[in-house]
Amino acid sequence: MDTRTLGATGPRVSALGLGLMGMSDLYGPASSAESIATIHAALDAGVTLLDTGDWYGMGANEMLLRDALKGRNRDDAVISVKFGVLRDPAGGVNGIDNRPASIKNFLTYTLRRLGTDHVDIYRPSRLSPEVPIEEVVGTIASLVQAGYVRNIGLSEVGAGTLRRAAAVHPISDLQIEYSLISRGIEDEILPTARELGVGVTAYGVLSRGLISGHWTKDKTGQPDFRSHLPRFSGDNLDRNLALVEELRRIADAKDVTVAQVAIAWALSRGTDVVPLIGARRRDRLAEALGALDVVLTTDDLAAIEAAVPADAAAGARYDPSQMALLDSERA
Ligand SMILES: NC(=O)c1ccc[n+]([C@@H]2O[C@H](COP(=O)([O-])OP(=O)(O)OC[C@H]3O[C@@H](n4cnc5c(N)ncnc54)[C@H](OP(=O)(O)O)[C@@H]3O)[C@@H](O)[C@H]2O)c1
Repeated sequence: MDTRTLGATGPRVSALGLGLMGMSDLYGPASSAESIATIHAALDAGVTLLDTGDWYGMGANEMLLRDALKGRNRDDAVISVKFGVLRDPAGGVNGIDNRPASIKNFLTYTLRRLGTDHVDIYRPSRLSPEVPIEEVVGTIASLVQAGYVRNIGLSEVGAGTLRRAAAVHPISDLQIEYSLISRGIEDEILPTARELGVGVTAYGVLSRGLISGHWTKDKTGQPDFRSHLPRFSGDNLDRNLALVEELRRIADAKDVTVAQVAIAWALSRGTDVVPLIGARRRDRLAEALGALDVVLTTDDLAAIEAAVPADAAAGARYDPSQMALLDSERA
């Protein structure tokens, strides 16, 4: 497994990370046994970076990870945890809480659910207007000092916030959506991360399955978070799936799959970018890992760029209420 270092100060991790969210939440039913088998297969293949959130499945995702790590060497995993999203009993999102006492409380529960004495990377899921980023990072820094956290990460923040955060404590990585059809970070956020020595853990590399080559129109509408996303709806879906067919021509010519082209493209953005792959099954994981062997030539990259220009996506990446929570989308 190739490895990459997260930022100037972060840990060395596998070139592809595994995101566990869909194993417990948001993407429809998933099998716990197959999810654990997928985590085992990832670890066996040399994947070290495992990303979760305390609110994914209201703690269930962390407990799934604890079960998967039983009998394994804890130090083989770099566990990244997001906190701060509040849920309601119906499963909805009910605000963001980044207050210092809450962060300490969240971490305490996380450590218990994970069955570990430290989290490798701890990060707020979203910025909250009530608590300045300096206070959030300062609070996590005190948890680093105390030995409960090893590195501080961020999620979906813009360049200005990244700069303010990095002035308080080194930031290992910014977790943010980045894919062939979500390229908003290229103008300002990615250059700022590079200037500050902050790595990027890219999520949505397959646009939540939309550009995986496996998405079909009949899947939208099932009880699944994605049925509320603009890119998966109406005419937008038709236009986005047409882009996938353009990619499929390129993939077929290289005798690889659409998902592998999309992941290889993300890997080609720089050694400071680590794609987080949302595989929930071993066959999907195997396909994703195959992207590590895909070499994209200059001609391939030009053909991909022509097939899917930077602003080609139809629809915003979240619905308006969720977009409003994204510091990264503020001018
Ligand atoms: N910081 C944030 O705001 C944020 C937001 C979202 C996610 N994340 C993190 O990023 C991780 C990745 O999630 P994502 O939604 O961005 O993942 P993604 O990789 O863009 O999409 C995952 C979806 O694509 C499907 N898929 C089809 N072929 C696949 C293949 N070969 N490999 C992997 N998946 C394939 C998956 O499996 P099925 O076909 O089985 O459904 C799943 O439904 C999450 O688990 C989470 O840890 C972070």
